Amino acid sequence: MLKFNNNVPFIEGTSLNDIMKVCQTPFYIYSQDLITKKVEMTKKALGNKIFFSVKSNSNQAILKLMQSLDIGADVVSIGELKRAISAGFHPNKIIFEGVGKSKNDLIYASQKNIHLINAESLEEIKLIEKIAGDTNKKINIGIRLNPNIDGGTIKKISTGKKTDKFGIEIEDIKNIINLIKNCSNIKLIGISCHIGSQISDINAYKNTFLEMKKAADKFVEAGINIKHVDLGGGFHVKYNGNDQEFNINDIKKELDQCFINSTYELSFEPGRYLIAEAGILVTSILTKKQNGGINYLIVDAGMNTLIRPAMYNAHHNIEAINKKSEKLINYAIAGPICESSDIFLNNIELPEQNIDDILIIKDTGAYGKVMSSNYNSRTLPPEVIVHKDKFAMIFIPEKIEKNILEDIIPTWM
Ligand code: LLP
Repeated sequence: MLKFNNNVPFIEGTSLNDIMKVCQTPFYIYSQDLITKKVEMTKKALGNKIFFSVKSNSNQAILKLMQSLDIGADVVSIGELKRAISAGFHPNKIIFEGVGKSKNDLIYASQKNIHLINAESLEEIKLIEKIAGDTNKKINIGIRLNPNIDGGTIKKISTGKKTDKFGIEIEDIKNIINLIKNCSNIKLIGISCHIGSQISDINAYKNTFLEMKKAADKFVEAGINIKHVDLGGGFHVKYNGNDQEFNINDIKKELDQCFINSTYELSFEPGRYLIAEAGILVTSILTKKQNGGINYLIVDAGMNTLIRPAMYNAHHNIEAINKKSEKLINYAIAGPICESSDIFLNNIELPEQNIDDILIIKDTGAYGKVMSSNYNSRTLPPEVIVHKDKFAMIFIPEKIEKNILEDIIPTWM
């Protein structure tokens, strides 16, 4: 995403130096062009029924862009639902899911007339039926099934195994059918699944598609007219040169084979795949030191800005802007947070770096800013989007003074 023109770093037609004049590190930058290309490519491979997983990046400018590219939104909280609507998504292009929804959440979502609410337990189906009855409203629902498939991703982001908390066990279909047949206020129109994130194993997709096809057929045989089959997200992104290759067209091939001769409307809900590679995190070197023979560069972004390395041992490549020195040094890049896990990379060779030099942490468009926090009383990072030679700040820097005012010291103290 970053290109050098006479040693000056550019994102599309905008120089990083221009952005740095108005934005202090650490901050995120997204490329509108890269997001657009990835969405178009995904639509070309899988068709128009794509629902962007808002949890991966919920900035309203990003949502507005996704909406203008004619895809839907997949939300998992009322906050995300409100963001999606406020960014311009038509409610009938929004799916609401999530393993735990409150009664108020369900009432709010049903009043908004969204495309469907995905239920994740038999109890939730009963609750939605009751809400529909009490409010005298027909509610369209989907059911998230748990197909008991191991996607081969890390445990912390696996969601499709029987023992995971997500969805209703696929063996429970009979019970779902019996329950639905006794419900008069809700209409079951779809089934969905999502077996996890960062999945490259084509066999895992194939097995999921086969299970979902079988499941949809069972509902139809029982007289329940399933129209939509939502096959989740989880598409793999290459963060590391050693990562496995993943080609979205391989998914398309399996899809065509597994759903041959069927008329279900197939949809997907990717997040990471659409935006991870279109984002970078820009950070400055605060200081450097040698501890126990390790050359530390301490930067101003930390696990509060990007938690993926600390939380999942996730790898993000790092590029130095200052490439002047011919001397290569093996560095450990660490954040300023008082936690030993606040390390971005342990072993990276870069030209010798100095205090105030800029480093770029790559592929951080998904699950970056959305997972940032105020830990250590630091502020959330600003975000910038670039469109050709224009850029705009899309999340303004927080003010710590404002955050401090949000705490209330009781009068008796
Ligand atoms: N649909 C459902 C029901 C999901 O739970 C998720 C992600 C997605 C779609 C989108 O998955 P994607 O296409 O982005 O893989 N914070 C973790 C990832 C957690 C994913 C949670 N669910 C990370 O930074 O790797």
